[in-house]
Amino acid sequence: MEIFVPKTETEKQKAVAGEIRERFRRENRRPLVFARTYGCQQNEHDTEKMLGLALMCGYEKTGDPANADLIIVNTCAIREHAEKRTFSCTGAYKKLKEQNRELIILFCGCMAQETGIAEKIKRSYPYIDAVVGTDSNHRLPEIIQNVMQTRKRAYLVNSLPHSDFGVIAEDIPALRESEYKAWVSVMYGCNNYCTYCIVPYVRGRERSRRYEDVVAEVKQLVENGYKDITLLGQNVNSYSGGVSFARLLEKCASFGGEYRLRFMTSHPKDASNELMDVMAANPNICKHFHLPVQSGSDKVLEAMNRRYTRNTYLEKVAYLREKIPDVTLTSDIICGFPGETEEDFEQTLSLISQVRFDMLYTFIYSPRPGTSAAARGDQIPYEEKLRRFEKLSALQLGITLERNGRHTGKVLRVLSEGKKTARSEGGTLVATDTDIPAGTFADAYITAAHPANLEAKIIRP
Ligand code: SAH
Ligand code: SF4
Ligand code: F3S
Repeated sequence: MEIFVPKTETEKQKAVAGEIRERFRRENRRPLVFARTYGCQQNEHDTEKMLGLALMCGYEKTGDPANADLIIVNTCAIREHAEKRTFSCTGAYKKLKEQNRELIILFCGCMAQETGIAEKIKRSYPYIDAVVGTDSNHRLPEIIQNVMQTRKRAYLVNSLPHSDFGVIAEDIPALRESEYKAWVSVMYGCNNYCTYCIVPYVRGRERSRRYEDVVAEVKQLVENGYKDITLLGQNVNSYSGGVSFARLLEKCASFGGEYRLRFMTSHPKDASNELMDVMAANPNICKHFHLPVQSGSDKVLEAMNRRYTRNTYLEKVAYLREKIPDVTLTSDIICGFPGETEEDFEQTLSLISQVRFDMLYTFIYSPRPGTSAAARGDQIPYEEKLRRFEKLSALQLGITLERNGRHTGKVLRVLSEGKKTARSEGGTLVATDTDIPAGTFADAYITAAHPANLEAKIIRP
């Protein structure tokens, strides 16, 4: 089945955008669009593309939902907490709709594609005009036009099995949030089916953009002065657009001048030596590896369907540190996966003490509907999950402080984010003594280390 949206389709959307813009011009309106994004970088970038399409339709961006004519809510389904928050925030838009009948509210992203959510919105959220599944973002102009002309509610949710749906729409202009930091998607979807995770169900099959398209986009960004570019995918190592991910990364790092190239996320089962070698050899690739381990227990790793063991994970870390001794290593951990015993949890604690990650993103296991782990009978009570979460966070706090401390008295190259803050190559926040323009590099002498950031004197702007 074809994964690329045909050019005729994207052209059609652009033509519809032109019609909408013309209508606004005739009516002498200057409409505004507001977007609210939940979830990961993929979602942030999808929002940038939807905003790009909204701009083509004649909207201008606003930071205030109260005076918007179009509200885009881009949702995340990864944990139950994310869902609850979304619905409670969306409730606030109900009032706005009562004040302005012309307001269009779109519910997009991963929750939109989740089983049962479209029905729930149909039933209980009458002020939402359209539910837009992850496959239909590129149809934004058509969706807006339909609502304007008919005021009928629309539900564009893909009903194919998750292993079959998923498209790629090229040539969608992104309205990027930043002038020096950019996301570039290289692949979409996921076929890994970790047993706790909803992503394969809501994002569909794994699919890759063409090598030439990714390279052209990165080259253009570098030429336009972007300094921090992140290649995105749920599992970048599965990239299959013509070359291996390592070779794609290498090519993307080869354009002239100083800039930073990053990637997210790398699955330990396929994080290759080739990728680590490419990272070691290229000055433009940040020496930062995010390698989510999830658990330190082989039993739990197997039950999660992660397809690596504690040992193979440790071997990868050893290879990485041999090649790049000063690498920044970060990871994700889930506490309280069904059936996780005290002993399994101890294994996770021991792995953390052994590896000494620079930073950890720790999550309390959240059962997601439709995933196999959610159906297990051996769920851990919330209080126990929370206890493990807190124990783990306390252990990591000390390690992060120690890891950050290794920079004290050294000079790090930082990229300014403005307002006396900057970021190191490893992604750590650095509070600087002088203000340098956002998007410029500087050498910073690190004077102090805290768990959440470093302090520095700028020695060479
Ligand atoms: N594709 C990425 C992860 C995407 S989700 C990867 O494989 O690394 C980001 C993180 O959320 C995961 O690494 C995991 O630690 C966490 N996560 C995913 N599903 C979860 C769930 N049901 N409960 C708690 N945390 C979860
Ligand atoms: Fe989810 Fe696993 Fe895919 Fe990551 S690799 S998105 S955790 S199923
Ligand atoms: Fe959330 Fe979807 Fe990303 S579920 S974490 S927004 S892929």
